[in-house]
Amino acid sequence: MVPRILSTGRYIPERCVSNDELSARLDTSDEWIFSHTGIKTRYLAADNETTSSLALRAAQAALERAGKAPGEVDLILVATGSPDYPGFPSCASIVQEQLGCSQAAAMDVVAACSGFVYAVETARSFLVSGAARLVLVIGSEVFSRILDWSDRATCILFGDGAGAVLLGTDEGLPPNGDFRRSLLMSDGSGAETLTSRQAHSPYLFMNGRRVYNFAIKIVPELVGKILSENGLALDDLRWIVPHQANARIIESTAKGLGIPLNRFYMNIARYANTSGASIPIALDEMNEKGLLKRGDWVLLVGFGAGLTAGVNLFRW
Ligand code: ACO
Repeated sequence: MVPRILSTGRYIPERCVSNDELSARLDTSDEWIFSHTGIKTRYLAADNETTSSLALRAAQAALERAGKAPGEVDLILVATGSPDYPGFPSCASIVQEQLGCSQAAAMDVVAACSGFVYAVETARSFLVSGAARLVLVIGSEVFSRILDWSDRATCILFGDGAGAVLLGTDEGLPPNGDFRRSLLMSDGSGAETLTSRQAHSPYLFMNGRRVYNFAIKIVPELVGKILSENGLALDDLRWIVPHQANARIIESTAKGLGIPLNRFYMNIARYANTSGASIPIALDEMNEKGLLKRGDWVLLVGFGAGLTAGVNLFRW
């Protein structure tokens, strides 16, 4: 069984909010936000949109592009930290019903901004074991509902959106969909660094500096480790697709590893940090632009609350 990504999709809400619009009602500025984060705009869900409705649109796009029927899907995984219902039911179950995936099992994967890389490894394991043949992996977030819009330190950072990939086994195609075992880690001693709703507050809390320091330390470690485990060099990687948390984290990682920044895909300027959705949104954009070529080594890098982090390594 050789797992590979068969198709991608995304859905971005219509409403675009610029830094200037935020600066009109908060003590901040386009200059501060852009220089500290690389963000220019973000998109926010409409009142009638939910994490599952965004996920549904992204998943529909991925299925249509692959020419697969909903009834063929065996498993739906939704990486999210902002589900429709805190606890249960899962967004994945709502998507399963609305998409008409009558044969699919469904569950959410909760690992914050690392959720998508955790979910991709879960999908890979199901495919390799033969427990599933077609898996929809979706990242979807509506962080706008858990942000304190009067807190300039957090609300400027995030946006809403969804991305999806369809993973399957490569039957009629040459076996170049080389999907290596991922590296995933968690350090729960940092659990209080970044939390969604808390007992005493309905809003997201973040110690930004601590998340930043965690990211710039863990990402190069994981990149080095997965490459050496697989006998690859940095130069073998065509693309690194990092979680889009902060352009400065990505720039510092590129510098630390000695890799040109143009091998890191970045779209944070447009979408801000869409947490579990940022990597699949990036993949879909890259796919649409024709940036991903058969045989290219691609590394997905996630990090965030937990604290958690992980990397997926595969050939496109
Ligand atoms: N506009 C203007 N000033 C601001 C703003 C703002 N929007 N936000 C904070 N400031 C001020 C602060 O009040 C502070 O002022 P002071 O020095 O007078 O006290 C000053 O700017 C510096 O604040 P810091 O928090 O130290 O700024 P820093 O350079 O660390 O940047 C940032 C903050 C952008 C949040 C950075 O720490 C970061 O990106 N961290 C990583 C965050 C991240 O990745 N989060 C998502 C993780 S993903 C997940 O799992 C959900």
